[in-house]
Amino acid sequence: MPKHPRKSGKDLKIRHNVFDEFTNRTIYKLITGGYIEGLESPLFIGKESNVFTAHAKGHDLRIVKIYRLESCDFNRMYDYIKADPRYTNIRKRRRNIVFAWVQREYRNLMIAREHGILVPLPYAFMNNVLVLECISSGDHIAPKLKDALPRNPGQFFTKVVEGMRKLHKAGLVHADLSPFNILNRDEQPVFIDFSQATEYDTHGGEAYLQRDIRNVCAFFRPLEVDADEAKVRKLITGP
Ligand SMILES: Nc1ncnc2c1ncn2[C@@H]1O[C@H](COP(=O)(O)OP(=O)(O)O)[C@@H](O)[C@H]1O
Ligand SMILES: [Mg+2]
Repeated sequence: MPKHPRKSGKDLKIRHNVFDEFTNRTIYKLITGGYIEGLESPLFIGKESNVFTAHAKGHDLRIVKIYRLESCDFNRMYDYIKADPRYTNIRKRRRNIVFAWVQREYRNLMIAREHGILVPLPYAFMNNVLVLECISSGDHIAPKLKDALPRNPGQFFTKVVEGMRKLHKAGLVHADLSPFNILNRDEQPVFIDFSQATEYDTHGGEAYLQRDIRNVCAFFRPLEVDADEAKVRKLITGP
């Protein structure tokens, strides 16, 4: 036996083995591709996806978001995605829709980053799996805004609105922005969960923006911030 045997495929453990074979193969490819070394702690189990932490070779902490093929509400996904001008020709096949959904989340994050919005850096997407930068501060994974009230709510709110304005200038609307999808990293808002984000110039784009504004304002108003929806809308859409 060699002293340091190379790990064979089977030894590279895919922990929490709750996924179908296809998904396991995808995770395995991401491991052999060097994006992650394996799955670590489960961080969050959502309606459609499981979120894990993982380390990459350079020791940086990453997030792996895995859509469970069997529990995705693909009719809802289809309705959302076919309204996005980038995906109007998409065919209604379950896997197709889920893969496009993941690809879109990756693309949205890239666009947001290019426009200077604080979002996790996306490293890779493959089929129903997305690998992202883990938003953290030292050893601590950044908490959601709903669980970590800002020390200075007014300042934090201004930064959130600034992020929304940049996103608007990038031609996108988040469409699910709320204190659940904004992390508080050292008093800086980081937007996450861009799966529903769509081009603003989409049927429904304006209503999504209005809903995002309403959710954000509703959170900050009790914190004694002057969070007036009409004013915020002007700040976001104005010149
Ligand atoms: N890049 C990230 N860095 C740190 N935590 C994250 C990151 N992405 C997701 N999370 C955590 O996982 C949870 C679920 O991720 P999210 O993308 O919002 O999925 P869902 O679509 O299920 O809401 C988030 O609420 C957050 O706590
Ligand atoms: Mg979320």
